Amino acid sequence: MINIGGLISGGGTNLQAIIDACETKKIDGKVVFVGSDRARVQGLERAKNHGIPRFVVNYAEEFSKLKKISFLELLRKGVPADFNYPDTTSKQRIIPVDDFEAWKLAARAVIEAKLLKQIVQYQYDLLVLAGFMRNLTPYFIDRVNLDPEQPRIMNIHPALLPAFPGTDGYGDTFAYGCKVGGCTVHFVDYGEDSGPIIGQRIYPIFPDDTLDKIKTRGLAEEWQLYSECIQLFAQKRLKVVTRKLAGKKFRKVVEILP
Ligand code: GRF
Repeated sequence: MINIGGLISGGGTNLQAIIDACETKKIDGKVVFVGSDRARVQGLERAKNHGIPRFVVNYAEEFSKLKKISFLELLRKGVPADFNYPDTTSKQRIIPVDDFEAWKLAARAVIEAKLLKQIVQYQYDLLVLAGFMRNLTPYFIDRVNLDPEQPRIMNIHPALLPAFPGTDGYGDTFAYGCKVGGCTVHFVDYGEDSGPIIGQRIYPIFPDDTLDKIKTRGLAEEWQLYSECIQLFAQKRLKVVTRKLAGKKFRKVVEILP
């Protein structure tokens, strides 16, 4: 039986599917908190309906407060005491570092410290991102993945990774003229939607489809897939190993144990 924490930004249909799968024992687990980066979203209502503790760290509000503080000032006295800028920026693989992005990385860490302060109040084994539309910095990731060999932040992405990372997986799949689309559950690493893949599902795309139609089709697959992957985690059947790819590249991948 695992304790699951959830982070959301919106409607929370994936969160609902996870809560339902816990209640019907498809997942040997329990959702112990739900955090949101926005207030008053439907996902928070869903948590409330199931008596799950919830909190908001309002990213937009926090960013606008921090905007008044320069990068250097932020580094001097704004960031958490355990934040190491060179370490964080050298690890992250999402953002090209110009002056604004450097500021944003430090600002993110300030906000993530607030998120961590909430999260540490709970005993959790797995943190699931269920439509959480924020990139997490290495500062946050390292403080959740206490053992780097045993990642424990999962994300669901609405495309067949490594195709179409980013914020509009369905839109990109559709616009590209793909004949199948898919969704992917993966562990979160320092890049954008780039971590080791745990599970994938596909759906057909027909000539007369619309974006709305493929979203509906894809979401139904997401709800099934996420719960299956969480259950594999609960059963301790996910093992991260390093494999060699062509071109002398190494990559961490997930093996599913029998
Ligand atoms: C899903 O398509 C998920 O893959 C993506 O954001 C959407 C969230 O939907 N990351 P919901 O909030 O779970 O309904």
